[in-house]
Amino acid sequence: MTPRRPVRNAHLTHAAATSYLSASPAVFPLRVAGPVMAPAAFVPAPVRLPVSNGRVSLGHVAATQGRRPHFFGEGVPASSHGPARVVGAPQMVAPPPRRREPSSRDTVPIGDVAADERERLEANLSGGVVPGVDSPPPPEEEMAEYDSRRFSEANPPPPLSMKDSMDLWIENILVLYGDKEPRDTVPVAEGEVSDLMGGPFFLALHRCFKQYGPIYKLAFGPKVFIVVNDPVVCRHILRERSILYDKGVLSEILEPIMGKGLIPADYETWKTRRRAIVPGFHSAWLEFMTGMFGYCTDGLSEKLDGLIAADDGNAPVVEMETEYSSLALDIIGKAVFNYDFKSTQTESPVIKAVYRTLREAEYRSTFLFPYWKFEPLNWIVPRQRQFRRDMKLVNDTLRKLIDEAQHGKQSTELDDLKRRDYENVSDPSMLRFLVDLRGESTTNQQLRDDLMTMLIAGHETTAAVLTWATYELVQRPDIYARVRAEVDAVMGDRQSPPTFEDVKSLNLTRRVLAESLRMYPEPPLLIRRLLADDTLPGGEIGKPTNLKRGTDVFICVYSMHRSPALWEEPDMFNPDRWLKPFSNPGVDGWSGYNPPAPNRASLYPNEVNADFAFLPFGGGSRKCVGDQFAMLESTVAFATLVRRFDFSLGCAPSEVGVDTGATIHTKGGMPIRVRKRGEWDELNEASAKLAQQ
Ligand code: HEM
Repeated sequence: MTPRRPVRNAHLTHAAATSYLSASPAVFPLRVAGPVMAPAAFVPAPVRLPVSNGRVSLGHVAATQGRRPHFFGEGVPASSHGPARVVGAPQMVAPPPRRREPSSRDTVPIGDVAADERERLEANLSGGVVPGVDSPPPPEEEMAEYDSRRFSEANPPPPLSMKDSMDLWIENILVLYGDKEPRDTVPVAEGEVSDLMGGPFFLALHRCFKQYGPIYKLAFGPKVFIVVNDPVVCRHILRERSILYDKGVLSEILEPIMGKGLIPADYETWKTRRRAIVPGFHSAWLEFMTGMFGYCTDGLSEKLDGLIAADDGNAPVVEMETEYSSLALDIIGKAVFNYDFKSTQTESPVIKAVYRTLREAEYRSTFLFPYWKFEPLNWIVPRQRQFRRDMKLVNDTLRKLIDEAQHGKQSTELDDLKRRDYENVSDPSMLRFLVDLRGESTTNQQLRDDLMTMLIAGHETTAAVLTWATYELVQRPDIYARVRAEVDAVMGDRQSPPTFEDVKSLNLTRRVLAESLRMYPEPPLLIRRLLADDTLPGGEIGKPTNLKRGTDVFICVYSMHRSPALWEEPDMFNPDRWLKPFSNPGVDGWSGYNPPAPNRASLYPNEVNADFAFLPFGGGSRKCVGDQFAMLESTVAFATLVRRFDFSLGCAPSEVGVDTGATIHTKGGMPIRVRKRGEWDELNEASAKLAQQ
């Protein structure tokens, strides 16, 4: 973050920022010195934005502060349990953390919630209760128009108008460039936009986090983003006041691709569709899917066997990020709409179209001007013509599958669907469930949007978890040997992939995956936009922050997952951290991390166990619907491969660069040397010894 100087006009090519800034180039003539990454938040694959020459600041120094399915078809100092964080610049305006004992109002009691978490969330949805813990609202006349206390799930805040955006701009200009008193004392990150370049956006935000602490602002001209990295604030935004925050610009970018799928959907559509989709992930289905995960991973194993054979039995270097991506695509295609992409074996036109569509989503997220909204350009610009063709192919494929499912519709009660004998149905997909579910009739277009959203949300994420878990594990032979020993002990003599029951016993393997999600959260950034005036709780900075309707908020999950105030040795890969509690009274209102009770059903230490310091699948009402699915999938895939192969890095660890799209990608792939299991004596011996213990 050097050198620094105050600059009046600033620019960030974040999707949200760009849409504002590009809307008014004459008012704020902005120039940037090179390509800038867009943030990652369910927008796939990295794309750089070409920008003109010039020097611009990152911020303004403001005056403020078993069973087979038959359908084969950077160096932050390690924190101790000490009270307060040491990160943060001395010039930070925020006062040191206040301390107090956490109160029962701060969180839902851990032990009671872990197993019933989904029920609780769904109860929130169906009961129309105000999320979180709130006192009854005062009389109407005492509340301002956009007072957050006015709103509830039954009465959500209205969408933003152009006037709201303009009001916010004007206020920001007056605060940043005039002498209007700010609403808060949040420090404004200062520096050069070049600080954001040459690397992923979330890493630049992480540098800001180290300098400015758990809550700071990025000011780009009149456009201000609040960046939060504090569990108490995250809990407020995601759970207690989730009704006040929508997905903001993310919805605008994703809508042309996902339509009214869960991620970009408006509140009313989201509420209806979430209620229909969540029960689809019921335990009988997940158990059946576990067999399918094993079947698909066997396909990858066969491919790796073939590559080893082609290398005369040696240890070829395989680009595993691509392999994991193909595996995850095959799995999600089968699970969601019973379509076999066969992408581990071939590259069909549909697969190519799907990948190009995903890349286009990200390209759009980095573009200064939403040109795709101008219909004529979609016919003239070659890239847009290609996109139209790709979307047509993908949509035609989906529509055909939906038509087929509708044709065989058997309207069935939810309870009966949950008891379905998935071994004996021809189509066990989520699509089939949604079509057959009695009382949830919807349009084919909505089904298409639901499926497309799950395809995108469930694909790269899982592939990334497997990629980074592999990367970390191969650098830690001690832990690797223990994982092998665990898999061997659980699987015994069986050569078939792990079953649902096996997964429950693969504790260390699942902790490795959870630790990978802590270090490489997918996506590393969550995006929200405030729909009513709100006050963020103090948390670590110990002082509330007032926000105005229309404010854009980034939750930098990456920074929070690596905060020394919240984790011991945060940059260290240590799957055993999940076994012991951690707390820090310096973070006001944070209950700390408490390991889930062994008899709890959760497959991973979740956001409730960590009181929102760990958000592998988000939290609150917009929490991932596929969390259990993803954990089962990645555990089965990982254990199956660990049992059959020995992996080691095919390059120096530092050569594996980091990049972002929807998820944290590698820069140029993950080269892994693959041997047949049994030929790596040292690891085998260590593994055998551990298995006997
Ligand atoms: C390891 C794999 C996965 C990770 C790390 C992950 C992560 C996340 C996160 C962090 C969110 C919350 C986003 C936000 O609050 O803005 C989310 C939402 C979502 N995820 Fe996942 N996900 C994974 C797998 C899946 C799978 C397999 C599916 C579907 C089969 C899925 C479907 C969704 C959907 C539909 C949403 C939107 C939920 C809503 O807004 O109501 N995800 N995911």
